[in-house]
Amino acid sequence: MPSNQTDPPAHAFASRQREMTDRSTLAPGLFSKFQKLIYQEAGIWLATHKHALLTGRLARRLRLLGLSNMQQYYELVTQPDQQHERAVMIDCITTNETHFFREPRHFDYLERQVFPKWQQEAAAGERVMQLRIWSAGCSTGEEPYSLAMLLLKHFPENKGWNLEVLGTDISTRVLEKARAAMYPIEKSKEIPAEHLRAYMLKGRGDHKAVMKVSPELHRVVRFARVNLHADSYPILGSFDLIFCRNVLIYFDQESKTKVIGGILRHLSPSGLLFVGHSEHLGGIAPGLKTVAPTIHALASSSDTVAGQTRAAAATAGHPF
Ligand SMILES: C[S@@+](CC[C@H](N)C(=O)[O-])C[C@H]1O[C@@H](n2cnc3c(N)ncnc32)[C@H](O)[C@@H]1O
Repeated sequence: MPSNQTDPPAHAFASRQREMTDRSTLAPGLFSKFQKLIYQEAGIWLATHKHALLTGRLARRLRLLGLSNMQQYYELVTQPDQQHERAVMIDCITTNETHFFREPRHFDYLERQVFPKWQQEAAAGERVMQLRIWSAGCSTGEEPYSLAMLLLKHFPENKGWNLEVLGTDISTRVLEKARAAMYPIEKSKEIPAEHLRAYMLKGRGDHKAVMKVSPELHRVVRFARVNLHADSYPILGSFDLIFCRNVLIYFDQESKTKVIGGILRHLSPSGLLFVGHSEHLGGIAPGLKTVAPTIHALASSSDTVAGQTRAAAATAGHPF
C-alpha cells in the first residue's frame, strides 16, 4: 500500500527525535565544566541536583541558536569574545523571585530607626541633604522602587533633598523589566495603599491588567548591570544604605566573602547593609557589626542608629 504522501518519512521523525535528545542531554563531565564556568563567571555554584534545571534551560537556548548538542554550546560560550553569550547563559539560570516591600520588617526599621535620625542630622546641618541607596541584586525592580517610595515620602525633593536609588543585577533580562517599570495589577496588593495612590498608575483600556511606576518615582531610580562577583564594580561613590537581599544564597562561602568585600567598598562609613532573613554573614565579614537581625553597620563606624548602642499607564495611567 502506498504511504500517505503528507506524512514525513519515519527517518525524519527519528532524526528529529535524536536532535531533541542530543540537545537535552548533558553528560556528567560536561555538567561539571558548565558548573565551573558559571562559578568563574558569576560566583554561583550550581549543586549537582540542579543538573536537570541547567539542562532544561540550556536546551531552550540551543534550540534558539540552532545548535545540536551541549558540547557545541560549551565550545561557543567559552570563546573569549562571547561575553554576551556568557551573560545570556547566566540569565538562564538565575532565580528572580521578588516582591514590593518584601520582608516588611526592614522597611519598618528604616521608618522608625533610621529616617528620623537622618532628618534630625540634616536639620542640625550635620548631614548633606543627599541620600543614596543601592539595591544589589534587584531583580525586576520591586525592591528599588519600594525603597524609592519610602524616600520620596520622608525626604521630599521639593524640600531640597536629592535622592538616588540604584538597582543592579547580573541579569539583563530582569533589568529590562525593571526599566520598563510596568507590573501586573495583582502586584498592587503588595504595596501599602498610601504608596500605591502616590506613586503607581493604573493602566486603562487594553492596559488595565498592568500598573506603571509614576514619572516622579521613575526619576529617582536607575538601573545598571553589575556582576557582584566581579573584581570591581562600575559604580561610583558610596551609599547610605545597601540592600543585598536574597542574593547571597546563590554563593558558596568563598564567593560570599568576595561579594560582601566588594559591596562594603561602597558602603558609607555611617551606612547600613541589609541582607535577606535567611542569610547569615557569620565568619565572612569581620568588619561588620550587627545592629539588628540581618542589618549591619561597619564595625569601625562611630555612628549610632537610633535605639541601638554605639557598638552596635501603562501608557498614560491614572491614580489608584
Ligand atoms: C531572588 S532575587 C532577589 C531580588 C531582591 N533583592 C529581593 O530580595 O526580592 C536574586 C537576584 O540576584 C541576582 N544575582 C545572582 N547572582 C548575581 C551576581 N553574581 N551579580 C549580581 N546579581 C546576581 C539574580 O539575577 C536575581 O535577580
